[in-house]
Amino acid sequence: MGLCPFHQENTPSFHVYSDTQSYYCFGCHESGDIFTYIMKTEGLSFPEALGVLADRAGIKLEAYHREEADISSVLELAEKFFTGSMKGNAGGAARAYMSRRKFTPEDLARYSLGYSPNAWDSLTLYLRSKGIPDKAILDAGLALEGKYGLYDRFRGRVIFPIRDITGKVIAFGGRIIDGDGVKYINSPEGPLYRKRRNLYMLDAARKAIREKGRSILVEGYMDALRLHKSGFTETVASLGTSLTPEQAGLLSRYADTCFICYDSDSAGQEATIKGMYTLAEHGLRVHVVHLPRGKDPDEFLSSYPPEKFEALLRSAKPLIMMHVDSLRPALQNWKTRRTALNALFEGLSRLPLDDVLQYMGSICEAAAMTPEVVKSYLLKDSQPVSADREKIPDAPVMKHNDELEAGMCALLWRSPECRGSLSLDEAMSILGNESARETAAAALTENTEGLEELWLTAGETEKTGLLRLGENFCAQMGCSSDSERFVKIYCALKSGSIERRIAEIKSMPPDKQNADELFALYAQRGLYNR
Ligand code: UTP
Ligand code: MN
Repeated sequence: MGLCPFHQENTPSFHVYSDTQSYYCFGCHESGDIFTYIMKTEGLSFPEALGVLADRAGIKLEAYHREEADISSVLELAEKFFTGSMKGNAGGAARAYMSRRKFTPEDLARYSLGYSPNAWDSLTLYLRSKGIPDKAILDAGLALEGKYGLYDRFRGRVIFPIRDITGKVIAFGGRIIDGDGVKYINSPEGPLYRKRRNLYMLDAARKAIREKGRSILVEGYMDALRLHKSGFTETVASLGTSLTPEQAGLLSRYADTCFICYDSDSAGQEATIKGMYTLAEHGLRVHVVHLPRGKDPDEFLSSYPPEKFEALLRSAKPLIMMHVDSLRPALQNWKTRRTALNALFEGLSRLPLDDVLQYMGSICEAAAMTPEVVKSYLLKDSQPVSADREKIPDAPVMKHNDELEAGMCALLWRSPECRGSLSLDEAMSILGNESARETAAAALTENTEGLEELWLTAGETEKTGLLRLGENFCAQMGCSSDSERFVKIYCALKSGSIERRIAEIKSMPPDKQNADELFALYAQRGLYNR
């Protein structure tokens, strides 16, 4: 009898019955046998739990697939050969390389890092000497067939064993240590190694992930190793490929929070962000860590202490915020706005609505949309977002334009500073809506005091409604001052009017088109597309 591992308790209610080989908790009613126990406490599937227990009992499982068992034993021999070479005479240069990268001989042993000598067939010869047939060496992905027979796939490289979740070697990665050649090569996929279903170092990390309630996801071998070495044992690596649903499923078994820590140049790329949404779709709360430009996690931790890295984790942005912030400039530029909206809503629509609503304020502000428009996109009951301007009517953006015009009126109405920044002519050239033009003209030429009441009593509800709409729009823009709002709205309206004029001219017969005006408009376009 003991404290139950499945719920919090102070007095033991967890019973183990050796006669029936089972357990039962009188507190939380969990029950099962040794297999369910390992599955639940270690987060493993049944075959995986079976593997773990067989290992512990020293029983060799008769593998279901003969071929997999064969490959597995060849890989095990290869791992021995590689780690032996790292320690031996051949490994001098590799040890020196790793020591330059701040890995001690103890680290090399602890993480089972190996070396493949810079020869054509040293591993192949070793495996043959152990009685392994050439076909098995090829099947294990360790050699290639050339004109003169087999030659090793990995030559002159530091070797990183890639393991499955139970710790069994299923592939290798190899990093070149000098000379020309691809930086990293990896075992090919085969019956044992499926890139999509694997995360580097998950076997070493899963316990810590569960205990700490979070995982850290990095791109590279060296990043994962450096983090483990620095105490962040909850780290796994995606090995430079984009994230798959299978990997998301694996991670979500152990903790529901994931910190993504990619190189700063790759973290913001749309393809990478798509992968992050894959994780979020599987119920993970994804936070994106921002590394200083040009540094990867390995480099960061080679220059700064772990506390600095922990501080980076604390300031990591939730995925939605990171995405919104990375798209902000594109959303505010007329030329890129459509594509950016596409990208944003493609991501957001993959998440539960409730999660998105939490960040509504920032989404509205960055996309310059009202919550209603954002919601209609999310619920897909509006026009699909499309980069194709010809076919899709511009409904939400039109609405957006009305709001911008209303916002401009509200600003002119309430702020003398804004009134001083805009001439009547300019106001008339950027405003298209009739009520907006009249309201702006009144603000710029008349004494506005009492005017709104006058309108109200005169039944000019369109203008008063416009001012209300404008007030609301300004309130949810998230800027700190009216002058900031003014600049944003002015630029958006100005570039809108430029685009309209360009379209107008281009729709005229060629001989009627004024090339000078068109040229001037093109030049202006760049000024206001910010
Ligand atoms: P990086 O190019 O960022 O390398 O690739 P790195 O991890 O920082 O490696 P070091 O610090 O230069 O040694 C990230 C990951 O992408 C995969 C590897 O898994 C690598 O760790 N990759 C990269 C390849 O598979 N092949 C390559 O040629 C390059
Ligand atoms: Mn690196």
